[in-house]
Amino acid sequence: MLVSVTEMLKKAKAGKYAVGQFNINNLEWTKAILLTAEECKSPVILGVSEGAGKYMCGFKTVVNMVEGMIECLGITVPVAIHLDHGTYDGAMNAMKAGFSSIMFDGSHYPIDENIQKTTELVNLAHSKGISIEAEVGAIGGEEDGVIGSGEVADPNECKMIADLGVDLLAAGIGNIHGKYPENWQGLNFEVLEKISQATDPMPLVLHGGTGIPEDMIKKAISLGVCKINVNTECQITFSAAVRKYIEEGKDLVGKGFDPRKLLAPGVEAIKATVKEKMELFGSIGKA
Ligand code: 13P
Repeated sequence: MLVSVTEMLKKAKAGKYAVGQFNINNLEWTKAILLTAEECKSPVILGVSEGAGKYMCGFKTVVNMVEGMIECLGITVPVAIHLDHGTYDGAMNAMKAGFSSIMFDGSHYPIDENIQKTTELVNLAHSKGISIEAEVGAIGGEEDGVIGSGEVADPNECKMIADLGVDLLAAGIGNIHGKYPENWQGLNFEVLEKISQATDPMPLVLHGGTGIPEDMIKKAISLGVCKINVNTECQITFSAAVRKYIEEGKDLVGKGFDPRKLLAPGVEAIKATVKEKMELFGSIGKA
């Protein structure tokens, strides 16, 4: 069932668990994530960056693929297609193509401009029943070409953006896209607590889910985080499994070169990673 994230995150916030956003790159990724969500009876959010959208031949192709899979695989759990780190134009295009949820990342604009653009998009998204995520502060590192400064969010600015009527809010709290460096200071829980108090009951989003230790994930959830984004970790486990298959020479045995066989270990690796995250986030059985 294709839905916005509004209801699933309200339930998650009340139940003190988080729904995973897993970014998709192609058919294998999407199928692996949908099948795991169904097996785990967990709601799920499919994240699509603008780069991945282009790679998959446009947002319309993505929506058609996901809708086709939901029908063909008999997926009954709530599924959202969510634009990840959208530009203003990207958000407009994703809504036109049938995305059920969007993120507008106006964090690099001065706060007044972020407010003005977010307001326009909130009104448009809500008129179509689409949920919208905004960002304050900036997530460090790089997400598919979007580079963030790692600026920690100001709780007052978070309140200003939350009051615009967005459905979920991403705030920079020392989190980084991609792998965390050795000398990473960890999440800034002091700021997260202030943001949580200032914006309650707004569902908060934790980007950069790859490599955050379990205890920090649990603490973040206890402080109001109810959507956690994971991308790099599925890419790492997928490529390691496919590399192992090739290094063991399995592609050279019989029809081992058939792409359906070659990519199968990668698909299984994504499924295992997604299941592990759903367990950690507490979303299993919550569909
Ligand atoms: P990671 O790639 O670090 O898991 O972050 C994903 C993300 O936050 C997508 O917006």
